[in-house]
Amino acid sequence: MDAMPALPPIPAASFASDNAAGVAPQVMDALVAANTGPALAYGDDRWTAEAVDQLRDLFGSPVEVVWCWGGTGANVVGLATLLQGWQSVIATDTAHIVVDEAGAPVRFSGSTITTVPHVDGKLTIDAVAPFLDWRGSEHHVQPRVLSISQVTEMGTRYTTDELGELGAFARAHDLLLHVDGARIANAVAAAGGDIRSMIVDTGVDVLTFGLTKNGAMYGEAVVFLRPELAAHAAHVRKQAGQLPSKARFVAAQASALLADGLWLANARHANEMAVLLATLVADIPGVEVPVAPEANAVFARIPWDRFAELRAWSFFWEWDPADSLVRWMTSFTTTEDDVRTFAAGVRAILEAEPVEPVEPAGAA
Ligand SMILES: Cc1ncc(COP(=O)(O)O)c(C=O)c1O
Repeated sequence: MDAMPALPPIPAASFASDNAAGVAPQVMDALVAANTGPALAYGDDRWTAEAVDQLRDLFGSPVEVVWCWGGTGANVVGLATLLQGWQSVIATDTAHIVVDEAGAPVRFSGSTITTVPHVDGKLTIDAVAPFLDWRGSEHHVQPRVLSISQVTEMGTRYTTDELGELGAFARAHDLLLHVDGARIANAVAAAGGDIRSMIVDTGVDVLTFGLTKNGAMYGEAVVFLRPELAAHAAHVRKQAGQLPSKARFVAAQASALLADGLWLANARHANEMAVLLATLVADIPGVEVPVAPEANAVFARIPWDRFAELRAWSFFWEWDPADSLVRWMTSFTTTEDDVRTFAAGVRAILEAEPVEPVEPAGAA
């Protein structure tokens, strides 16, 4: 029997998701350091107070902060705090709250998500405007919140001008602007590091400030830029099961990431690795990167008949099979060597004859 051709070395990092990365060492140290003696539960502790102060310094305003276990939970708490059952949130058809949260925001807010087509992953005023005609009709849900993701699910990033236009539109029409910032650090790092001009000056009302993809073990913060909007947030969080009792351990992680700009350094590194990957795969025969990475994702078209083989070698997710599109994600743990190994492997596999792939056990 002929020997199978040797596959290229498998990179140590996973390009499947930034959630596949572990925990930043500084965060792990902070968890250990917070594990000293007792502390009152539910956020009545010095770590929580310190992390809230850090966020207030970062935003330059007296934001209200509600810590949650995870990203879906943070979106649920942010949105359900803002919405009544007869109101609606308008989001793109690709939004995480629409596609990947099993209906949780709808269930917990009791409201409706109206989905509209995206343009490069983004919500546009043109798509939203027609729904304002529903205002005042008792037969229609009443638009109340625009929800966007920064970075978007398509790996793109709203410019500050685009955010400013959405914020102004929201204010002019008595709408609130919610940002799912699971990757807000990547967006801010890519835009030069100034979160105030991106989020405060543009009129964002509520932001999920993502920690997990940036190096935390778990936990996200819901940041209410207008504190009065947070009036019922604590009760919503409790009902949604998002109140961590040993809250100090979420806050300690946030503090470690916020200290000395670690959150931006981690995100910047992830973004740089995505740019390097896009550059290295660009001239592989059959591979096309339709859009230059704007944060820490590379979306690439590949010869679809080789998808299974590539994925069996180093697991990653398909994005849109109809368009032969896959998503490769980088994180704060991805090294330059990982990127070079991955790109070399993709090249070697695509330049070789196809072989029958064997799915690795437990790939998902
Ligand atoms: C855009 C976006 N929002 C929110 C989340 C948070 O999801 P989780 O509930 O898995 O932490 C993710 C995670 O993949 C995401 O990509």
